[in-house]
Amino acid sequence: MIDATCQKILDKVHDYARENYIMILADECEVVLRRLFEENSPKRVLEIGTAIGYSSSVMALMSDCIIDTIEKDNERIKKAKELWKALGIEERINSFEGDSKELLPQVVKDKIYDFIFIDGAKSSYKNQLEFLYPYLEKGGIVLCDDVLYLGLVRGQEKVIHKHRTIVKNMREFLDYIQNSKLFESTVFEEGNGIAVVRKK
Ligand SMILES: C[S@@+](CC[C@H](N)C(=O)[O-])C[C@H]1O[C@@H](n2cnc3c(N)ncnc32)[C@H](O)[C@@H]1O
Repeated sequence: MIDATCQKILDKVHDYARENYIMILADECEVVLRRLFEENSPKRVLEIGTAIGYSSSVMALMSDCIIDTIEKDNERIKKAKELWKALGIEERINSFEGDSKELLPQVVKDKIYDFIFIDGAKSSYKNQLEFLYPYLEKGGIVLCDDVLYLGLVRGQEKVIHKHRTIVKNMREFLDYIQNSKLFESTVFEEGNGIAVVRKK
């Protein structure tokens, strides 16, 4: 449960993000995220894609966890830090600025996570999941937002050029999680498509 004062601050940031077209997780994904936190109380969390700190704040308020979060946009990180401070959770969140592709190896070195939220570069979900396998505890959960990307991933229509790589890679990612012996997974159609993946 998040207390009413913190929830009010979160609501303001949620509305600000929606009004200003800043990407934060879909509302349907937030429902799944909160449920997973209620059921599992993760302790060591990795997030790829901080944006302005909305989802990391929800996670830090839902459980007594420590979060490593990666973001390439410096202006968004500044906003995230203001939000964490306002909520009094800044000491439990480690922010890393840069491209996740380059930063991931040093961020995760010698660490084991029990919860990973993949919400950054949409073309890299499969590569990131494969790379992160050794850094995820057995039974650990990976949550991924936007896996049906604008409804195009399961659509039959021709995908326009600018979305083609993401859609192709997302299809490969879904195929991978659904057929992998390393993970069990559930894909929800709600919102922009949500994948919940658990390490066997
Ligand atoms: C959907 S938003 C994240 C929303 C955030 N998880 C939330 O729900 O509050 C995706 C973020 O990932 C960042 N991003 C995209 N590609 C990235 C990359 N290669 N490395 C680091 N950050 C990246 C974008 O700048 C953007 O802020």
